[in-house]
Amino acid sequence: MFSPIIYQSNQLKLIDQRLLPHKSIWVSCDTLEDVAVAIEDMVVRGAPAIGCTAAFGLALDITQVDQDSTWRSYKGRFFDCCARLEATRPTAVNLFYAINQIRQAVESISDNELVRDVSEVVERCAQDLFNSDLETCVAIGAQGCKLHSSDKKLRVLTHCNAGALATAGYGTALGVIRALHSAGKLEKVWVDETRPYLQGARLTSYELLQDNIPHTLIVDSAAASLMAQGLIDWVVVGADRIAANGDTANKIGTYSAAINAYYHNIKFFVAAPWSTIDLTISSGADIPIEMRPQSEITEYAGQSIAATEVTALNPSFDVTPSKLISGIITEDSVIQEPFDKSLASARAHNNRL
Ligand code: MRU
Repeated sequence: MFSPIIYQSNQLKLIDQRLLPHKSIWVSCDTLEDVAVAIEDMVVRGAPAIGCTAAFGLALDITQVDQDSTWRSYKGRFFDCCARLEATRPTAVNLFYAINQIRQAVESISDNELVRDVSEVVERCAQDLFNSDLETCVAIGAQGCKLHSSDKKLRVLTHCNAGALATAGYGTALGVIRALHSAGKLEKVWVDETRPYLQGARLTSYELLQDNIPHTLIVDSAAASLMAQGLIDWVVVGADRIAANGDTANKIGTYSAAINAYYHNIKFFVAAPWSTIDLTISSGADIPIEMRPQSEITEYAGQSIAATEVTALNPSFDVTPSKLISGIITEDSVIQEPFDKSLASARAHNNRL
């Protein structure tokens, strides 16, 4: 299964997603700072992939210091590394989840322990997070596929890239699409190009092409008209953070897709692992929304599109209110309204977070 992240023998490599689909170049991250910059600059992107990369970043750093020194002497640097990674991108909670998992894994280690032993703990935890994300995506795919029992093949719209490139592999929204395709339940995928960063045009259509999954690329604003013509059966998207009431932050434009689906009576599903659910916040109003550079709107591939004096606003994510969501497809189950109650009881039932 393709993964955008390779961690082997203390070496971290990422496929440079800024260059896809035309060039497949793997970049090596040699320091923690390289990892942080790779996340900020979108070499790696997508909520679960960012979390896994940050975890491997922590593993990379601890394996680079004197292994015979004590945990006490490294501890301060470890917390600085966590803080540096946490400052990279604010919206996807998977980043904070992964770092917290590692913090918890080292929490009870005594100061006199050798760094060598702590390195093992950190590396194991990072590897477990990666392996578990891969398994989780496959489980999300299976849960999503179970939702469709009729013989009619589905035409599914997706936004952004919630595929193998955005996770440890396989994908969340694209995991559901892959599972539907394997089960013979998919007619085709409509791929939103996803302005302004074009994750749909550059990454999702590339992944679907690799897997021979029928698809057509559209501009984001074409979706409503395709819905009105009866050409879309489902919308399936990923998520960066889901609040306790089900409000969901995802790539800018997701909210418009949800409103359009609601108006046309089309099912709108969010596919996401439990690591994307943030029960510490009650609603989407508390989700921090990343603002990205204006140049992502005013320029394309270094070429200016708008007049140089133009001011642009570039929120990278929006929040879809839960009332527009038909279901949240997790690895355990499909959560439905009332989302606040269903999320709380699914959490207790599945012993999550
Ligand atoms: O800015 P990006 O490319 O990191 O945004 C990615 C998305 O919005 C994805 O839909 C989300 O992270 C889910 S990935 C499984």
